[in-house]
Amino acid sequence: MYELVCVGCGPGDPELLTIKAVKAIKNADVILCPTSKEGKSSIALSVVSSILDQSKKPEIVNLIFPMVKDKQTLETTWENNAKILAEHVLAGKKVVYLTVGDPYLYSTWIYLHRELETKYPKIKISVIPGIVSIFTFASKVGISLAEGGEKMAVIPSCYDLSKVKELAKNCDTMIFLKDGRYFDQVIELLKEAGFSDDSIFAIGQDLGTDKEIVRKLKLGEVTKETMTTKYFSIMVVKRA
Ligand SMILES: C[S@@+](CC[C@H](N)C(=O)[O-])C[C@H]1O[C@@H](n2cnc3c(N)ncnc32)[C@H](O)[C@@H]1O
Repeated sequence: MYELVCVGCGPGDPELLTIKAVKAIKNADVILCPTSKEGKSSIALSVVSSILDQSKKPEIVNLIFPMVKDKQTLETTWENNAKILAEHVLAGKKVVYLTVGDPYLYSTWIYLHRELETKYPKIKISVIPGIVSIFTFASKVGISLAEGGEKMAVIPSCYDLSKVKELAKNCDTMIFLKDGRYFDQVIELLKEAGFSDDSIFAIGQDLGTDKEIVRKLKLGEVTKETMTTKYFSIMVVKRA
């Protein structure tokens, strides 16, 4: 039986890995992990590096997923990376693929899973869920993301923001992921959608690392300086 295990590594703090994730990582012969550029280290790998079994010396393979939106480039990337992954599994090794947070939220794994399922049906796939960045952030700032009949939306902020205002009119909590450099573009839209100056505003960057930034204030207090500057950022705005 050829098996591949995808491990959700959680938000950055190794203490937030599940016991199942730790067991799979320690047991691996080969660990494959995503990175955006040649020579750039993998964030998922950095989360688990302290628990790697050094006596076992697992082989580490970086798979490059360039941060582009061109469909053809993306499809070729998914196909090539799935092939590399499959070759390791079909060589009879214990293979683990790492991904930050949970594998099924905006993750490179989603595309690899689709490729592997259709092109490499002999491989059994197991997925170990990870703690999602959104929930780690909610715990850090003590915000309930949704309660009672409240509705929430999750928006990848570096994509099309044209529908944010309409969505916001129908939601109580708006969660923005993927690239803090775009977050300031939605502040006015949220106000126009009825989010008052009293609304809770929370923003986080590099959670679980020693560079972590966490801020909680009111929407009316937000300035350019309170925003984040990096891709690894989360912003939550909740109606007062
Ligand atoms: C490609 S998505 C991956 C989401 C991930 N699968 C999850 O379950 O959280 C990457 C985005 O998730 C958010 N993110 C994930 N981990 C984070 C962290 N440690 N600190 C801040 N944001 C994080 C950021 O919005 C980042 O741009």
